[in-house]
Amino acid sequence: MFLHLHDIAILEASAPFFTTETHSALRTEELTSNHAQTVIQSYASLGRRIGEERVAGRFANGLKFYRLWLGDKLAATSWIVSEGHRYIDELNWLIPVPTGEIWLRDIFVSPDLRGKGMFAQSLKSIVQQQDRPCTFLRSDVDWSNIESMRAHAKAGFRVKARARALDLNGRLRLRSKVVPWLPPIEQITPQQQVIWLRGESLTRHRQLIA
Ligand SMILES: CC(C)(COP(=O)(O)OP(=O)(O)OC[C@H]1O[C@@H](n2cnc3c(N)ncnc32)[C@H](O)[C@@H]1OP(=O)(O)O)[C@@H](O)C(=O)NCCC(=O)NCCS
Repeated sequence: MFLHLHDIAILEASAPFFTTETHSALRTEELTSNHAQTVIQSYASLGRRIGEERVAGRFANGLKFYRLWLGDKLAATSWIVSEGHRYIDELNWLIPVPTGEIWLRDIFVSPDLRGKGMFAQSLKSIVQQQDRPCTFLRSDVDWSNIESMRAHAKAGFRVKARARALDLNGRLRLRSKVVPWLPPIEQITPQQQVIWLRGESLTRHRQLIA
């Protein structure tokens, strides 16, 4: 049996982004679902692991994957949602991401390049890569992840909400009230602060998780 407290910051930056000076020596490369094995290899080359099923789930749920190159060195990777939904599985909130907005997911900077503003540079490159202009950047971060909170603050993000969920065995959650959102958060049963994942709600959760 496990009991875990998730403490999550929801952050937002509105255009124009990147108040700190960023240079664009980075080359941005998008990998699509046909390149799942390359995604897995990219994780491995940065000392991380991701399973085939999870990669497939992320693409199926509309996430996009980017590699950021500094010359021939892999400097960073990131998933984003540029139109669709971000499912914060710890809260069971399915947050709409309308056209022209980006939700950042799981950005990772190569450990030897950290502390040099690579986070903001990577985001800038990804934003510039999009077909449409981006008006809002959003992200969710574990409140205790100081490096990420600092990186977000330096790139112009501000905390819009803080949400907590007390999780028993990944099935029973006592969570914060849903934050007001436009368009509204509709899943899973956002009006309930206690959620018990079983039957249909558990199936839905498994479909959305990525
Ligand atoms: C969070 C992360 C993406 C930030 O990227 P970054 O390019 O290092 O960001 P910045 O250069 O803006 O530095 C952010 C903070 O990292 C910390 N930092 C500085 N040098 C560092 C180093 N050598 N190693 C690790 N962290 C360092 C500092 O707190 C810095 O803030 P400060 O400059 O105000 O002191 C990166 O640390 C990372 O990949 N972490 C692991 C994955 C992760 O947590 N991703 C975020 C998920 S939301």
